[in-house]
Amino acid sequence: MTDKETLRAQWAAYAADWIDRIRQDRDVSRVALLDDAMLAAVGDVAGKRVIDLGCGEGRFGRMLAGRGAEVLGVDLQPLFIEHATASRVGAEKYLVGDMEELEGIPDEAFDLAVSYLSLVDVPNLAAALAQAARVLRPGGRLVACNLAPMATAGSGWIRNGRGEKLHFELDRYFDEGPREYSFPPSRTRITNFHRTQQTMVRAFAAAGLALEDYAEPRPTPEQCRRWPDIADIARVPLFAIYSLRRHVR
Ligand SMILES: C[S@@+](CC[C@H](N)C(=O)[O-])C[C@H]1O[C@@H](n2cnc3c(N)ncnc32)[C@H](O)[C@@H]1O
Repeated sequence: MTDKETLRAQWAAYAADWIDRIRQDRDVSRVALLDDAMLAAVGDVAGKRVIDLGCGEGRFGRMLAGRGAEVLGVDLQPLFIEHATASRVGAEKYLVGDMEELEGIPDEAFDLAVSYLSLVDVPNLAAALAQAARVLRPGGRLVACNLAPMATAGSGWIRNGRGEKLHFELDRYFDEGPREYSFPPSRTRITNFHRTQQTMVRAFAAAGLALEDYAEPRPTPEQCRRWPDIADIARVPLFAIYSLRRHVR
């Protein structure tokens, strides 16, 4: 089932575990790889008005606020918004809302929109991108980190008899749509939406967002030694960072 209520209920069931996972820095790919890649992609945010779409419990919002941005975070889950609000490092604001609608948020109010692993959660990508473009000033930027299309089409590693990873199985790449994953420790089911790279790129263009850069963050050998949990990402891309700019009319 992929109706909005089901998606909302899945994240509600997972929210408390997610908060623990994030706050204990157990999401190694963020700590070891993605935070730096996202901070590099957004650049200097001092004095910028930033909207964080699908902000979760506010982790990235706090990083941006700590660097001088004026941050508004929006997320579907009230528990995340409560925790984000209680953990502010500055004047950032958080509100419960749907990034496919951004109800009550004025047009052209932001210099920068960020989506840190949240586009993969939304069933209506076109609506989410149209809203991101609407609330950006002309020339404003959207920086979106998403699961790589290759990863969301993948079904895991093929191993030899000794359990060693031989190669990554990728199939049904062109079958777009919901894919369910279960997350530890409670094995909560979360639905992500697999889309091809062609769909992503064309959806950005249709929303009036020009692609300026595309990054596939991958760990160095040193990072793999320090954080063995992310070593697989040196073999198969798990993440994609799209840097986009709203057309100037
Ligand atoms: C993988 S989490 C990422 C959270 C946060 N950006 C981070 O990196 O810590 C995805 C987030 O998207 C939120 N989300 C899912 N669908 C949404 C929607 N339609 N509107 C707003 N937030 C949504 C979920 O509640 C969840 O917090």
